[in-house]
Amino acid sequence: AEEKAELKDRIRRLLKEKEAVLVAHYYVDPDLQDLAEETGGCVSDSLEMARFGRDHPARTLVVAGVRFMGETAKILSPEKTILMPDLEATCSLDLGCPADEFAAFCDQHPDRTVVVYANTSAAVKARADWMVTSSIGLDIVRHLHEQGKKILWAPDRHLGSYIQKQTGADMLLWQGSCIVHDEFKGVELDLLKAQYPDAKVLVHPESPANVVAQADVVGSTTQLINAAVTLPATHFIVATDNGILHKMRAAAPGKHFIEAPTAGNSATCKSCAHCPWMAMNGLKNLAEVLESGANEVWVDPAIGVQAVRAIDRMLDFAA
Ligand code: 13P
Ligand code: SF4
Repeated sequence: AEEKAELKDRIRRLLKEKEAVLVAHYYVDPDLQDLAEETGGCVSDSLEMARFGRDHPARTLVVAGVRFMGETAKILSPEKTILMPDLEATCSLDLGCPADEFAAFCDQHPDRTVVVYANTSAAVKARADWMVTSSIGLDIVRHLHEQGKKILWAPDRHLGSYIQKQTGADMLLWQGSCIVHDEFKGVELDLLKAQYPDAKVLVHPESPANVVAQADVVGSTTQLINAAVTLPATHFIVATDNGILHKMRAAAPGKHFIEAPTAGNSATCKSCAHCPWMAMNGLKNLAEVLESGANEVWVDPAIGVQAVRAIDRMLDFAA
């Protein structure tokens, strides 16, 4: 505990000294989320992280999250220095959608508008017409569908098929998935709901269809936290990375949050729904990168200028 307090003090001091700002995702270590908030940075979903990083005047951003979040920050602000506690922090969706294979897929379907999820590499975004996050993907695809566009969607198949069902859009789906959300189980969730008949079910749309189908609210991490605060219920079953519970409990004191069942967490594993890459962000490596300036995110500028168009389209739409 002593060491933790010292590390936190060191980080507070270094952020000031280096005039850096900390931008964190809700799935990272609670200490990092709290530090981001208390030092004038932000903790939020992917859309807000992008917007906050772009608009903040600091010359150095430290992104506590995964690689695509750091890259998005760099693409939006090439003049800023973007640091990450661990550059190896990736995402199964990003890994499952290599840029060359994706480009070949797009080439086969030139008649389709290419919409990619934020959880992709800069090179994949460079090939896209639109980038979307979970908070706004549904609205953007609905808008494109109303314009008569046919869509090529990548990489998350669960989010893609959820949006497809909701909008009726013609969507060709890449078959990627998130290793964390893919583990939520519909049958077990149904049993858990029977134990808590008054509980509201909050689901991230990277979850499988039979889990999404049981949701009271489907949304991004920020949208799920807002639902936890505003819905008049005492119990909530939460199907997303359990890193979110820290903020939910703080934002909705007195309410009870129960983790949705995964394949492994019934008896043996209490925290299966936790992203191993988000977990690579800690106090120690955060302090170290602030001190040394190592782990700078680099995006090929030629790719950056291509990729920024798809991100800007989303941010303009959201504005
Ligand atoms: P959001 O916070 O945008 O909902 O994203 C979830 C996610 O999987 C990030 O890794
Ligand atoms: Fe990727 Fe899933 Fe981890 Fe989010 S939780 S970074 S989607 S693997």
